[in-house]
Amino acid sequence: MCGIIGIIGRDGQDIVSNILQGLEKLEYRGYDSAGIAVWKNESIHRVRAVGKLCNLQDKLKKTPINGEMGIGHTRWATHGKPTEENAHPMMTKDIALVHNGIIENYEVFKNELIRQGYQFTSQTDTEVAAFYLQAELDKGANPREAFRKMLCDMRGTYAFVAMFRSLPGILFCAKNKSPIAVGFGENMCVGSDASSISSCCDEITYLNDGEYAEISKDGSVFFDKFFNEIQKDRIKVTSDLVNSGKGTYDHYMLKEIMEQPSAIRKTIQANKISKDFLGGVSRILILACGTSYHAGLVARYWYEKYLKIPTIVEIASEYRYRCPVIEDNTLVLAITQSGETIDTLEAMEYVKKSNKTCKVAAIANVKNSAISRLADFVFYTEAGVEIGVASTKAFTAQLTVLALLAFCDRPDLMAQIMSLPSVCDETLELLSAEIDALAEELQEASSAIYLGRGNLYPIALEGALKLKEISYIHAEGLASGEMKHGPIALIDDKMPVICLCPSGKIFDKMFSNIQIAKARGQSIVVFTDEAGAVQFDCRTIVLPEIHEELAPILYSIPLQLLAYKVTVLKGEDVDKPRNLAKSVTVE
Ligand code: F6R
Repeated sequence: MCGIIGIIGRDGQDIVSNILQGLEKLEYRGYDSAGIAVWKNESIHRVRAVGKLCNLQDKLKKTPINGEMGIGHTRWATHGKPTEENAHPMMTKDIALVHNGIIENYEVFKNELIRQGYQFTSQTDTEVAAFYLQAELDKGANPREAFRKMLCDMRGTYAFVAMFRSLPGILFCAKNKSPIAVGFGENMCVGSDASSISSCCDEITYLNDGEYAEISKDGSVFFDKFFNEIQKDRIKVTSDLVNSGKGTYDHYMLKEIMEQPSAIRKTIQANKISKDFLGGVSRILILACGTSYHAGLVARYWYEKYLKIPTIVEIASEYRYRCPVIEDNTLVLAITQSGETIDTLEAMEYVKKSNKTCKVAAIANVKNSAISRLADFVFYTEAGVEIGVASTKAFTAQLTVLALLAFCDRPDLMAQIMSLPSVCDETLELLSAEIDALAEELQEASSAIYLGRGNLYPIALEGALKLKEISYIHAEGLASGEMKHGPIALIDDKMPVICLCPSGKIFDKMFSNIQIAKARGQSIVVFTDEAGAVQFDCRTIVLPEIHEELAPILYSIPLQLLAYKVTVLKGEDVDKPRNLAKSVTVE
């Protein structure tokens, strides 16, 4: 949440367009406001705008600025409303600073700095860091001393980049929990992710918690939390770290939905999982949030049935606050697209600190992310960079990894997994027109119910999440057997009920649940297969045949498309739904 960037141009070249390019790639991290500050001839100029980056770009066309070093920010508001005053960079007479995270003890310093006469102009926690540095400079400290003192005093989560008026060609940056990549190449640069700085550098290194760096074109210096100088390994910027754009698609989300066959294929190729991985494991604990949590819920059905290992799935943000019992010989699986979700990260750390003999593994999409670095073992989903805020291809790739583990001892089911890419391809081709028609109707609804049973219950939850988070139509996913225990009261002629019911062992039970809904509602749609469809006398959408264990992967796809198409018809911003951000780095 919040994207930050800083660039020092080679040979005094103007870096404004590079910063804006970087901010375009960071917009997925927040779009409540955007801002930029540049250094030139010992002065700093700043431009900020509320809302999406295009507003800042428009403003810069009218009042252009230029400079040979600069910082930029896209904001996801935490402290203070999304106003221009609260937009970063924060500035004092000698400093400009951008921040991603939350400074937890900011009020203590704010009160003291106000008492000393410093005049705050925003409601943000970040402005305290800027005035803290200014106050240190005013007391006679040099920038390095001021920055180090600030790091010792500030508590909470942060990625900072700071620039000093008196210091040409040097940026200070530091990290605690929020990510920072430092880039080396034609320009020196720093950003919240590799993609944002990839056009300015060939190699990157990631800061670890507690580390800070002084970035300069004459050579960057890195320090550990005790301010001892350290050497950092660099990695090449490869295409899998870089957002390759929307291509011919109108939206990232559609591109990412269409990429699923290839994401699944690459994920299968990259993950050869043997049963040995489960040696000594007597329980499985899955930790995740949101869509990734739904992937975990599917896995529970698979793991208890096929691996015969007791499995629990926990919402990561709840886990460590309920004093859970952690047992020896637990395999912990943290599932995450971004690899940054603080709730998941903290839950993993909680397990690690328990001193139980647990194997902590991550299923992550972003290489070298904080969660993958914390895990003892990582399975990477090979979905490629996911930009659409609503997760799609990362979700089906997560399910693929989870299935590869579940069925590692079942050659028959492994063969079914191998066929997934082509079945998903077929589904995307087959269903587009039917989903268009359904989307036309659904766009008028104010609420919708998704029903599933067994391993498709989590997919009902996921379908509902996709619809509500991007189209703003309220939706609920239900275990269809639970409907009669309360939610059935919601069903009337106007309530769309979307049912997931392929043929299989649970078909009859689900069929009865759908009849109960049909007796009370008018707008029932059933996603099923050919064998199932003949039994329904209501609207059906027919998917290709798939083994019932793998139906969760296939049946996710039309629900993603449906949410996408409804949102486009409603004219909402598919890739940047309101109030959301792609990487959730606040608790
Ligand atoms: C919804 C969505 C979120 C994420 C959740 C966890 O479409 O994307 O619910 O799944 O914020 O994020 P990761 O997977 O990055 O840990």
